[in-house]
Amino acid sequence: MSHSKESDELVFFVNGRKIVERSSDPEENLLFYLRKKLRLTGTKYGCGGGSCGACTVMISRYDPISKKIRHFSATACLVPICSLYGAAVTTVEGIGSTKTRIHPVQERIAKGHGTQCGFCTPGMVMSIYTLLRNHPEPSTEQLMETLGGNLCRCTGYRPIVESGRSFSPSSSCCQMNGGKKCCLDQEESKAESKANRMAEDPQKKVLTFHGEKTTWISPGTLAGLLELKMEHPDAPLVMGNTSLGPDMKFKGVSPPIIISPARILELFIVTNTEEGLTLGAGLRLAQVRDVLADAVSELPEEKTQTYRALLKHMRTLAGQQIRNMASLGGHIISRLPTSDLNPILGVGNCILNVASKEGMQQIPLNDHFLAGATNASLKPEQVLVSVFIPISRKWEFVSAFRQAPRQQNALAIVNAGMRVLLKDGTHTIADLNILYGGVGPTTVSARESCRRLLGRCWDEDMLNEACRLVLDEIPLPASAPGGRVDYRRALLISFLFKFYIDVWRQLQMREPSGYPDIPKKLLSALEDFPLTIPWGIQSFERMDPQQPSQDPVGRPIMHQSGIKHATGEAVFCDDMPALADELFLAVVTSTRPHAKIISIDASEALALPGVIDVITAQDVPGENGSEEERLYAQDEVICVGQIVCAVAADSYAHAKQATRKVKIVYKDVEPVIVSIQDAIKHKSFIGPEKKLEQGDVEKAFQAVDQIIEGEVHFGGQEHFYLETQSVRVVPKAEDAEIDIYVSSQDAAFTQEMVACALGIPKNRINCHVRRVGGAFGGKSSKPGLLAAVAAVAANKTGCPVRFVLERGDDMLITGGRHPLLGKYKIGFMNNGKIEAADIEYHINGGCTPDDSELVIEYALLKLENAYKIPNLRVRGRACKTNLPSNTAFRGFGFPQGAFVTETWMSAVAAKCHLPPEKVRELNMYRTIDRTIHKQEFNPENLIRCWEKCMENSSYCSRRKAIEEFNEQNYWKKRGIAIIPMKFSVGFPKTFYYQAAALVHIYTDGSVLVAHGGVELGQGINTKMIQVASRELKVPMSYIHIGEMNTVTVPNTITTAASTGADVNGKAVQSACQTLRKRLQPIISQTPNGTWEQWVNEAFAQSISLSATGYFRGYEARMDWEKGEGDIFPYFVFGAACSEVEIDCLTGAHKNIRTDIVIDASFSINPAVDIGQIEGAFTQGVGLYTLEELKYSPEGVLHTRGPEQYQIPSVTDIPEELHVSLLTTTQNPKAIYSSKGLGESGMFLGSSVFFAITDAVAAARSERGLPPALAMNSPATPELIRMACVDQFTDLIPQTDSKCSELWSIPIA
Ligand SMILES: Cc1cc2nc3c(=O)[nH]c(=O)nc-3n(C[C@H](O)[C@H](O)[C@H](O)COP(=O)(O)OP(=O)(O)OC[C@H]3O[C@@H](n4cnc5c(N)ncnc54)[C@H](O)[C@@H]3O)c2cc1C
Ligand code: FES
Ligand code: FES
Repeated sequence: MSHSKESDELVFFVNGRKIVERSSDPEENLLFYLRKKLRLTGTKYGCGGGSCGACTVMISRYDPISKKIRHFSATACLVPICSLYGAAVTTVEGIGSTKTRIHPVQERIAKGHGTQCGFCTPGMVMSIYTLLRNHPEPSTEQLMETLGGNLCRCTGYRPIVESGRSFSPSSSCCQMNGGKKCCLDQEESKAESKANRMAEDPQKKVLTFHGEKTTWISPGTLAGLLELKMEHPDAPLVMGNTSLGPDMKFKGVSPPIIISPARILELFIVTNTEEGLTLGAGLRLAQVRDVLADAVSELPEEKTQTYRALLKHMRTLAGQQIRNMASLGGHIISRLPTSDLNPILGVGNCILNVASKEGMQQIPLNDHFLAGATNASLKPEQVLVSVFIPISRKWEFVSAFRQAPRQQNALAIVNAGMRVLLKDGTHTIADLNILYGGVGPTTVSARESCRRLLGRCWDEDMLNEACRLVLDEIPLPASAPGGRVDYRRALLISFLFKFYIDVWRQLQMREPSGYPDIPKKLLSALEDFPLTIPWGIQSFERMDPQQPSQDPVGRPIMHQSGIKHATGEAVFCDDMPALADELFLAVVTSTRPHAKIISIDASEALALPGVIDVITAQDVPGENGSEEERLYAQDEVICVGQIVCAVAADSYAHAKQATRKVKIVYKDVEPVIVSIQDAIKHKSFIGPEKKLEQGDVEKAFQAVDQIIEGEVHFGGQEHFYLETQSVRVVPKAEDAEIDIYVSSQDAAFTQEMVACALGIPKNRINCHVRRVGGAFGGKSSKPGLLAAVAAVAANKTGCPVRFVLERGDDMLITGGRHPLLGKYKIGFMNNGKIEAADIEYHINGGCTPDDSELVIEYALLKLENAYKIPNLRVRGRACKTNLPSNTAFRGFGFPQGAFVTETWMSAVAAKCHLPPEKVRELNMYRTIDRTIHKQEFNPENLIRCWEKCMENSSYCSRRKAIEEFNEQNYWKKRGIAIIPMKFSVGFPKTFYYQAAALVHIYTDGSVLVAHGGVELGQGINTKMIQVASRELKVPMSYIHIGEMNTVTVPNTITTAASTGADVNGKAVQSACQTLRKRLQPIISQTPNGTWEQWVNEAFAQSISLSATGYFRGYEARMDWEKGEGDIFPYFVFGAACSEVEIDCLTGAHKNIRTDIVIDASFSINPAVDIGQIEGAFTQGVGLYTLEELKYSPEGVLHTRGPEQYQIPSVTDIPEELHVSLLTTTQNPKAIYSSKGLGESGMFLGSSVFFAITDAVAAARSERGLPPALAMNSPATPELIRMACVDQFTDLIPQTDSKCSELWSIPIA
């Protein structure tokens, strides 16, 4: 079949508007098209791979079979625009805006405090909107499944869920038209009816779209498709594009022809017969799920074993958007090694109905097909038309298992499909089939084991034999990609055991007399944790009834930009339109951990279309960074991921493409230092050792009853702000002036870095920050470096330059939280009183100093947490390694250091056979005392938080209930832990606390506030408006805060260390007080006048209506020689109690409940503060239980996106999360007696970790094992499973950790 060389017109609809695209590129995705071509920037880029949900839109498409419109959410980053022919797209801008009207979903998420930085918000809005569009009264389960595909790094999800839940079950999608009809029905229906007509186009014309490298062909009939496939056998078919799309994006796959069978009706037909279901290959997984659910509801259970097994995974496989897009056929044909459905389809005797021009053929979907055997696969010219899934027979049982790092929206580590057929009336195995995913390059069959078990009785002997056979048949070498070798082997047989019990249970239910009862304790092997909806109570101090109603301080005011976040109108750095001559930058990074650069050859890259220039160290006119940290690598590279050079081109795609053509020759240099142990061995450090000591440690050790020694490893953490690092550099025509638009916590530092790089004074550079899409410390120092890299490119080319990191590059280049190795020796009495502690910390700083020295200092200064250890010595050092340089991260050393302390607290309790909370209580500060750095403080509120947390959580009664639960359940265990916190707020030096503000009153009475803090999502601008409103005594609506920039407020300090609102609040207060003082004489003269009149009168009297405010800061001093200093202005006290349940067979855990009590003193804005606490706590849950960075032995980061690195999703927060702010406390140091709460909640996430260790201890104790004294962090499913040693783990010989070819190694 031939197709025209001319492209067809691509016609689709966006927000009701018809789009006719005459030069559509098959490689272009909808996200790019919306953002760059249509300038609809509400839809955000977070990962580009379908995993984060920031780009969620709703697609409406006419379904010619059901003759209905199907509305579904989709991740725009994976939708090729060519696939949209005839579809209607709705973006966040299309459902409401501040200029027209706001949709209730937008309004509720904003007013319900479900947005902080706002970067994830449009995606959240669109997911909820689409849900409501399809289910006006969604169930809580539907809501949870919907939100599972959207990540948020700021809020902790609870308020988002509550905003979504407010629609169900009684309200409908939109209340604007009387609640019956959605407000957009009218507009969309116009577009949809047009789309409808296009979809029913009787001509079934072939559509062809030619791009730069790829041609897209969409035939209208099956015959046409088969002919095309014959003509282009190697051309992939694209359905959901969720498999092909990521390959094209991340692996550089670029097929010259893509065939789209989306318009072929035969691919969407469902046939239901007595033998089973035949499902069209084009059906999306969400549709398949609906069909299966219908079948399950209609047929007897014994016939639906395979359907049920498939349904089980359909809820957690990927996110809702991917399930809406991915097709059954695409899923099967992709044969991904971690496919969740293929192992089930494979054991379920399914048949593939395939077609080619030659005719139809049936291919068994079996282990040979899944292993990719050529004689069992489709021929290149064949197309999968449908899949037959037979009903199950009477004595046939099918089960499915999966364990992923996270319950929802994460690829499985190992999964399995298992089927057994028993001979009628006996328990003898007539047929057995087991397929595993995640243990090889394809789905793997335990074929031989199954064959040898035929004829065996379904009993324990058979199980034991099965375990041995499977472990023999499916070896996993120590070097296996993906690592976790022992764990994966343990899962192979743990799943077998679950299957064994599951079949036993079903046999027992069907034939109670023919099969013995399963001991109740064993039943706990079966149930998976449900997807439950979180809820919680937030309590804070009641407002003083005397406070004037107009005074907003102390009220839970909505985030100043909340509505704009929700409508997509809030402008982030990359949302700004490109200037005519703007260039795009992509960087070439080092592939070697330590090497000399021999040569850089950019000739091939420079010859590519659109490439303007390649920039290297030689192009830096000023300083190329410092000797320790280069902007562009100079002569040598010191880590994988270091920027070597950059390509500037007319589009990002061209720049990126060219980076692959830059040839760099390296000469490797020894040593390569990756881990802390390597660094210690090579004495590779950043800065000298730091030490603090009190009492007489040696003497104390001699007088104690017991001593324990141990070490604990603490992994790093990726910031994973949803908005990746972004900067635009715009050179001006005159005097070397430059505007820099950057997503940075530290505008002044960015300004300084650029000034140094270009060799120009700071006064030529204006650095603008409007808002930042999440930072958490990761945008403190790194944006300065990246801005300087971009500025050099702008300087060389003379053009504006946009430099926005892709997620993978961001994770590779920018470093994160410092991994820590903690060693301890603790001396204590038999009653649990700790008398002596000797502690040593090493952190992995990576290849440059950055903030590493400060981080280790903080880890030392704060290590004691809430405890008074009379004789305590702590030493610490930052290690220099060949990893990307680690940097500031929320909590700054405290979450690591205090974690080690809590580890040895628990270890002491275990040794003394005492409840851990008793030992914690016994060792806690009780009276006014001095910290290890000799700073006086009063622990009264620490004790109050602890006691209130014990009470709020009903700790004692729940501890009893947990013990009972644990007695009755062998394979599931519960644990509970309560952890106290003393968090010292602030910086180590006085000058860090200074802050300035500039307040203007205009003659119409409106007020413009500028201050030196950056809006990172933490609500600083909202609080500053509250402060200005109180001080000026004008309503908040009069006050505006725009961007912060270095012209309005110079020499700013990084917005960090929980002090942003404290210090900037004082500066704003001071400026406002100055202004109010100036107005006072006029106000006194005309007390009944209005604000506008007073302001005008002041203007008439030539009184300045503009004032600066300045806060000098708190005194902070530290003498490391003496080991003493009053370094922190105040402390935040708190406590958290968490309860979890673990599955001992898989290592999965469920967060059941957390109670947090925090001494927030007087909260300027309780909604904002509770948002910070919950968000930080959730990030802490990620840190301590989920997030795992994986490095190869050569220092190559494997985990470069949300597919490999899991931050908490909506299902990872506790089912119940209660936050209580301690009432009636004072903090005279800070504005209005408030406290900075940005960081402290992070550490409280450790209560979940210690609840897990409590549950693990219960499992170990039941199995007659001693408690594991120290578990490393994070407590991943792998660690939990392997700590719950049992008869299955005993079968697995430990992998040699010294094997030279390990896939990943620990770096702490
Ligand atoms: C973010 C994300 C998360 C994911 N999580 C999971 C998960 O948890 N569990 C899991 O199992 N999977 C997961 N996946 C994988 C997902 O299930 C598959 O990518 C998807 O099912 C592929 O279907 P598709 O329609 O998008 O295929 P496409 O990308 O459109 O096509 C894939 C391949 O199939 C071929 N093909 C498609 N249809 C046909 C046909 N009818 N006949 C012949 N060949 C055909 C194409 O030629 C192409 O090579 C995830 C994917 C993403 C992007
Ligand atoms: S950007 Fe599309 S899912 Fe992350
Ligand atoms: S508000 Fe969700 S990522 Fe920031």
